[in-house]
Amino acid sequence: MSDLAAPHILALTAYEPGKPEEELKRELGMDDVVKLASNENPYGPSPRAIEAVSGDALALHRYPDPRGHDLREALAAHHGVAAAQLCLGNGSNELIDLICRTLASRGEHAVFGHPSFPCYRIGSVAQELSFTAVPLREHLHWNVDDLLDAVTAETKLLFVSNPNNPTGSYIAKGELERLLRSLPERVLAVVDEAYVEYADADDFSPATELRDARDRLAILRTFSKAYGLAALRVGYVLGTPELVHALNRLRAPFNVGTPGQVAARAALADQTHLRGSVDATVRDRGKLATALEANGLRVAPSQGNFVLLDVRRPGRAVYEALLHEGVIVRAMPAPLESWIRVTVGKPEENQRFLDSLTRVLRESRV
Ligand SMILES: Cc1ncc(COP(=O)(O)O)c(C=O)c1O
Repeated sequence: MSDLAAPHILALTAYEPGKPEEELKRELGMDDVVKLASNENPYGPSPRAIEAVSGDALALHRYPDPRGHDLREALAAHHGVAAAQLCLGNGSNELIDLICRTLASRGEHAVFGHPSFPCYRIGSVAQELSFTAVPLREHLHWNVDDLLDAVTAETKLLFVSNPNNPTGSYIAKGELERLLRSLPERVLAVVDEAYVEYADADDFSPATELRDARDRLAILRTFSKAYGLAALRVGYVLGTPELVHALNRLRAPFNVGTPGQVAARAALADQTHLRGSVDATVRDRGKLATALEANGLRVAPSQGNFVLLDVRRPGRAVYEALLHEGVIVRAMPAPLESWIRVTVGKPEENQRFLDSLTRVLRESRV
């Protein structure tokens, strides 16, 4: 049994997704559950996206457009690039894996931050790459020199999540540009911008504005977060045509379904809806942080649609106690064992979280 999978795969810690609402409802026999665990958009997608997937023109008996022509054309117009610079993925998660499989070979090296999104590590291990997980300063802050110092003659991939999940921290424009310019030519810099729409710091810049700084650059975006389409699994890479060409060699032919392609195009066209939900979340992110700080808790400044806070006791126990309150958040692995991450929900959801957290901490249930 133990030789069923390769040893490096068996040694992997699998990605632990946020607990689904329905699962908690089943477990606790509770109807009223709030999920603030997966950085989803509580306002959902544009009504136009919902309309687009409920029409009968979807031809569900046909395979989807294998190249996602219409969505890529819409994205090309949106970003002011050629469609040949875009590759769609079944969520950006698939693209992280595809980048590892396509662009690095066994024995080469990858660099990413820690704590950061676990799938950079999973993709690297699956491809039998060696890697350096660069500790963020105080577990929270990027340092570009630390990343550059980790680069070796074998480094092929460098991943940064900007803003970073789970810390909410970011690499400022000047530093990101310095990183992109300083990396050796062979390294592909992957800037994962899953939360870019929520970043509002004056010195934040999307990597799409820094494309001149580096040829080997893959920018990852997703429709799962601000566009509210997590269930449909649509992400994309923006890079050079050469990069897209390489990715297409291994990309599964029909990796993004028709509902996803159609809904993403409709959601992209409705920037008003996007702005409305992003503005509400950014406003409530500030309110949530202020309320937590008023309760004496340390909150990491966040540029994402989530907040990381130090509960000063085992975060897993607080997470468990919150589950019994019907509130799903996220416990953090080392080195953030005393922190939990909470997605910014609708105001009433945030209030329910705050009330439950206050009860759990006050009653010293953990
Ligand atoms: C930083 C980051 N990148 C990528 C993803 C993957 O998102 P998706 O596969 O839904 O596009 C996530 C999801 O949480 C994330 O936090």
